[in-house]
Amino acid sequence: MLTRFMLPIDAAGLALAVVLAMAAPAAAQAPDPVKGARFADRWCTSCHVISGGQSRGTDVAPPFDRIAAKPEWLEENALFNFLSRPHRTMPDFSPSHRDVIDLIAFLKRQQP
Ligand code: HEC
Repeated sequence: MLTRFMLPIDAAGLALAVVLAMAAPAAAQAPDPVKGARFADRWCTSCHVISGGQSRGTDVAPPFDRIAAKPEWLEENALFNFLSRPHRTMPDFSPSHRDVIDLIAFLKRQQP
């Protein structure tokens, strides 16, 4: 009798689990500005000032707020193609599209 009484609760719990399981991959694909910041911190800070409070970087390379003000750099393929060929003495690395998506999310936060 008790089990029959609890069944609707279990069904509701199961439905919730299914909804959460379906939501998870979508959340994992969302642009992640925090990952973008980590990526920029690793690969860009030796030349670019990537965010406001930064003391490293140089004035040879445009700061990220200036880059973020240009719409062409917020377009995934444009930035991906640009970064796939090292510019200046930028260290040679191959960003994934995922890296670039996260980087753009971070760039958007630097918009003036
Ligand atoms: C070794 C130094 C160096 C590193 C590291 C570097 N850059 Fe640059 N970057 C420059 C310089 C210098 C310029 C400006 C002159 C030029 O375009 O060559 C520039 C220009 C750019 C531009 C074009 C700006 C414009 O409006 O024309 C973008 C976009 C850019 N960098 C993004 C990045 C990103 C993102 C990273 C990190 C993944 C990075 N750079 C790492 C030196 C560097």
